[in-house]
Amino acid sequence: MICNVSTTGFFVSHMNETATLTLNNKAYPLSVMIGTEGEKAVDIRELRNDTGYVSYDEGFGNTGSCQSAVTFIDGEAGILRYRGYPIEQLAEHSSFIETAYLIINGELPLPAQRKRFSQLLTENSSIHSSMEHLFEGFPADAHPMAILSAMLNSLGSYYPHLATNDHQRDLETYEATSAVIISKVRTIAAYSYRASRGLPYIHPRRDLPYCENFLHMMFSTPYEPYIALPEVAQALNLFLLLHADHEQNCSTSTVRMVASSGANLFASTAAGVCALWGPLHGGANMAVIEMLKSIHAEGDDGTKFIEQAKLGKADKRLMGFGHRVYKHYDPRAKIIKESFYSALASLGIKDDPLLNIAMRLEEAALRDDYFLARKLYPNVDFYSGLIMRAIGIPENMFTVMFAIGRMPGWIANWKEVAASPKGRIYRPRQIYTGYNVRDYVPPHQRK
Ligand code: CMC
Repeated sequence: MICNVSTTGFFVSHMNETATLTLNNKAYPLSVMIGTEGEKAVDIRELRNDTGYVSYDEGFGNTGSCQSAVTFIDGEAGILRYRGYPIEQLAEHSSFIETAYLIINGELPLPAQRKRFSQLLTENSSIHSSMEHLFEGFPADAHPMAILSAMLNSLGSYYPHLATNDHQRDLETYEATSAVIISKVRTIAAYSYRASRGLPYIHPRRDLPYCENFLHMMFSTPYEPYIALPEVAQALNLFLLLHADHEQNCSTSTVRMVASSGANLFASTAAGVCALWGPLHGGANMAVIEMLKSIHAEGDDGTKFIEQAKLGKADKRLMGFGHRVYKHYDPRAKIIKESFYSALASLGIKDDPLLNIAMRLEEAALRDDYFLARKLYPNVDFYSGLIMRAIGIPENMFTVMFAIGRMPGWIANWKEVAASPKGRIYRPRQIYTGYNVRDYVPPHQRK
């Protein structure tokens, strides 16, 4: 077995065994790689050069697009680890900010490092006053995800020395840029909510921890400070921690794709926000609540909806169920479900009709052959929308909350791309299915 140091600094082994591809009676040996958790891959990087063929894998379900040392998922076993640490241990012992540090820098912080990170976050929490005017340019009903993406990209123009589009230089300021993004994304998110309600902006406070400060900017008024219940701040902390990274999902792959062109961290994470927005990805937490509300409005207890979801129509899916990678209960869903009940108890919420429908749906789906055969289990979004709702976050902010949580993962993945010595631009191939060559038709001859 030959071990090579990969672009992530970890060992990737090239096994002695090879794979052989036979095309038109000619055999082509392909080398086999194995990651640190035993994941095997056939290396096809030279396939087109050697054979003239490309591989075809629509949706990338079987394609390892990169080598990464950030997050490990075993979807069959329901395992999720950030930098090697099980999600269950981080959820129990860590906080979102400590976990963000871990993901961004690779190791849990020493006390002095943790202190410095907190200081950087505090120093960077407010936004430039001229940036406040940008919020006024959006229509009152603009979706906060559109605002968040635009504002994140604009941030780069306020910090041109952190957004040079020269990866070497942008890596030298990585610590500062990460802190600017992690801190300001929370302020931008709260301001976009205030702008959408026509409410005055509430500035961040230096004395509040990350989640409490966010809730203060969301819900304080100029006359009355909002004091977050510890259970509410804790539920938010856990929500963000559970969303902090998730391997090569749609938005993280987008961040890497944009980064591979040499783009700076602000532009790359802004692209991540756009990819996250869709209902099959980050928008699912909002879609779950919309689904529960419509089931409730129709007087259904979930039974009819389950039957419709089984017809396989894309617009009638059971939102919050299924996952490309997990073919088992999503470990994040398990954790969030448990903490959900304690948050509800401390908030004094006893009988929520949407929660009752959610529990019935889960129970019914987990007994139904359709869902069992397809290995469709609740994912993190099934309960996270209900948590957000319980702590008073408006529905159109749910996906924004996901984006705040996912920021550390996007940042760490950007770094892996930027620091890669080969630094190749991401450029997949396609199987062209359009017309063969044909002659231009002048307007008067067109039929
Ligand atoms: N309800 C009903 N049927 C479903 C569902 C669902 N939620 N999800 C998948 N199926 C069916 C699908 O119709 C297909 O059936 P058949 O084999 O008969 O054609 C089969 O299960 C396989 O589905 P797929 O579309 O190949 O699965 P995928 O891996 O491409 O999609 C998914 C994964 C998460 C997009 C999908 O399960 C889904 O749309 N779920 C609802 C949306 C959702 O909750 N998204 C949040 C994902 S978790 C947050 C994150 O990490 O971003």
